[in-house]
Amino acid sequence: MLAPPPIISVSNLSKTYGSGFKALKGINLDIKRGEIFALLGPNGAGKTTLISIICGIANLSEGRVTVGGHDINSDYRAARSLIGLVPQELHTDSFETVWATVSFSRGLFGKPKNPAHIEKVLKDLSLWDKKDSKIITLSGGMKRRVMIAKALSHEPQILFLDEPTAGVDVELRKGMWDVVRGLQASGVTIILTTHYIQEAEEMADRIGVINKGEIILVEDKAGLMQKLGKKQLTLHLQQKIEAIPPALAPYKLQLSSDGRLLTYDYDTKGERTGITSLLTDLRNAGIHISDLDTTQSSLEDIFVSLVRAP
Ligand SMILES: Nc1ncnc2c1ncn2[C@@H]1O[C@H](COP(=O)(O)OP(=O)(O)O)[C@@H](O)[C@H]1O
Ligand SMILES: [Mg+2]
Repeated sequence: MLAPPPIISVSNLSKTYGSGFKALKGINLDIKRGEIFALLGPNGAGKTTLISIICGIANLSEGRVTVGGHDINSDYRAARSLIGLVPQELHTDSFETVWATVSFSRGLFGKPKNPAHIEKVLKDLSLWDKKDSKIITLSGGMKRRVMIAKALSHEPQILFLDEPTAGVDVELRKGMWDVVRGLQASGVTIILTTHYIQEAEEMADRIGVINKGEIILVEDKAGLMQKLGKKQLTLHLQQKIEAIPPALAPYKLQLSSDGRLLTYDYDTKGERTGITSLLTDLRNAGIHISDLDTTQSSLEDIFVSLVRAP
């Protein structure tokens, strides 16, 4: 089956700032239509730089980006019209009303007035009863939602949320996720950046990990969760062995080079871990253990080891 074309395609993208600093190094990334994609990485990884380039706010140094098939350099207007952006830094000290601000944003994209659309956006974001309020009078959470309303005012197919919940309290964060899921249900493709692992885990269909300007992992959340469920049991042997006895082959054990450690991978989400029968079979094979320990690879561990790698 032929996969549908990606809604965003980034190939061999590099960015060197005027200072000479290389913020992105050969990024390759496809975003699927309709997905929620989380770009996860520590501060300074290059998340905002990548988003800024795709949205046409910053220039790329090398490579190519297409949005809905339109090259962001040669076909900028067509590409940009498909995108709504909620930037990391919110500028919302406005004495304008919610309605005026959101309507004005639509106008910036050269779209004809469409009060029915603005009304729908404000209602979807639970801002309708605030439409005549000045933005400066709103709570932090409402201001964020106004920013999303502005980004959706011109009916984009893609919404970028750059650190949407940084500094937002738990309650508001939950509300934000409900909004994002609602948008996805209405057909919008969503790309969000975060440095919170849990956020990526909760929200995204796929997660890309970025560090020091490089994408170091892109995976379905399901695949990542499977890694999360994997545990490893390490058995310290009383006496070293030369080889794993054939009777123990089904356990797919690994023997350390010094012959003193056996490791066993098991799935905590499986029906049974197999540990009890493994211990029995070891004893039957005449192998005695002096100690054992287990380790779990959590997404946190995976993330930390990935971003710590030299
Ligand atoms: N205008 C700029 N000039 C020079 N360096 C920059 C500029 N903007 C960002 N950087 C640097 O590029 C790197 C990536 O920044 P950024 O994309 O903002 O990361 P993130 O959003 O992941 O925190 C950082 O080291 C940052 O200091
Ligand atoms: Mg950033």
